[in-house]
Amino acid sequence: MKRILITGTAGFIGFHLAKLLLDEGFVVHGIDAITDYYDVTLKRRRHQMLLQSPGFTATECWLEEADRIGEVARKFAPDVIVHLAAQAGVRYSLENPRAYLDSNIIGTFNIMEAARELGVEHLLMASTSSVYGANEDMPFSETEKADTQLTFYAATKKANEAMAHSYAHLWNLPTTMFRFFTVYGPWGRPDLALFKFVDAMLDGRPIDIYNHGDMYRDFTYVEDLVRGICLLIDAVPVRPESADDIEAGDSLSPVAPYRIVNIGNSEKVRLLDFIEAIEEALGIEAKRNYMDMQTGDVPATWADASLLKNLTGYQPQTDVRDGIDQFVAWFRDYYGK
Ligand SMILES: NC(=O)c1ccc[n+]([C@@H]2O[C@H](COP(=O)([O-])OP(=O)(O)OC[C@H]3O[C@@H](n4cnc5c(N)ncnc54)[C@H](O)[C@@H]3O)[C@@H](O)[C@H]2O)c1
Repeated sequence: MKRILITGTAGFIGFHLAKLLLDEGFVVHGIDAITDYYDVTLKRRRHQMLLQSPGFTATECWLEEADRIGEVARKFAPDVIVHLAAQAGVRYSLENPRAYLDSNIIGTFNIMEAARELGVEHLLMASTSSVYGANEDMPFSETEKADTQLTFYAATKKANEAMAHSYAHLWNLPTTMFRFFTVYGPWGRPDLALFKFVDAMLDGRPIDIYNHGDMYRDFTYVEDLVRGICLLIDAVPVRPESADDIEAGDSLSPVAPYRIVNIGNSEKVRLLDFIEAIEEALGIEAKRNYMDMQTGDVPATWADASLLKNLTGYQPQTDVRDGIDQFVAWFRDYYGK
């Protein structure tokens, strides 16, 4: 069975991915610094759950520690690396851009170096729908130009895509970059809307609704997302002989074993409908605090996920109401509310 090194396993998506891969029989090593960007208890609990599986081991260290990252990677000798650890969050990047520079640029470089040195079969790394920035042509497709990032977070992820392309080209390192669209579900992040809304509504506090509710997101259920990642592990990009060999709609580079893949639900959901679904799941009416648009935010995201489907045969499919129900059930149980 393949050996997979995953960064960010104490994080929301890394935890779910590690769980799925362990269930599928893979051997997994996790790297995470358990940063204090949000509740570290939640991160530690995720790691504790994973450590119950005999196939899982973990190292607590920073991506920025180049020597340590190299050592851990050499010792584990992975076939595949999935790099998910990052300073995430669109809004926090206005407050503390340096955290993004350190974790996302330096940290990602160290992971790419480890992947190059070990000559892994496949390096897969997280980018974001935020790289589509001010693009207005929807649904967003990977073959479109994406040059108008609106936050430093998005800029670091776009930089990661360019960095990864150069390594794929220079070292023939097969690389897939994922662009994730608003991921939600159990064990979710406290800084994201669903968590904040449910928490506030259960406490009787008002919820902040940006752009007066005129917002749309392609909400992607976390279990669908990690299923997509798991299937993409085997969709190893191969450098094409010539640009003519690239199929229409494929983002494969003409000069490198490198591709970008959207993972989204392919459904544009209105924020106000999302809130109504939460109200129904909780049986509570939200106290609404309508606000202006936040700097750097975009009014809508919507994925064209046909490349994912073409490569893997898989399409995320969880209805947002079902996903919210799953989140609410987890939240009530975990926090005893
Ligand atoms: N959740 C989403 O909606 C979403 C959307 C688009 C892209 N992404 C990307 O997906 C990836 C995973 O996101 P997530 O939602 O699981 O976030 P998360 O914050 O829950 O997980 C990230 C993990 O990385 C760790 N980490 C951060 N900086 C580190 C560093 N310098 N060294 C070592 N560990 C570090 C954190 O401790 C955390 O456990 C990130 O790259 C993020 O940018 C997420």
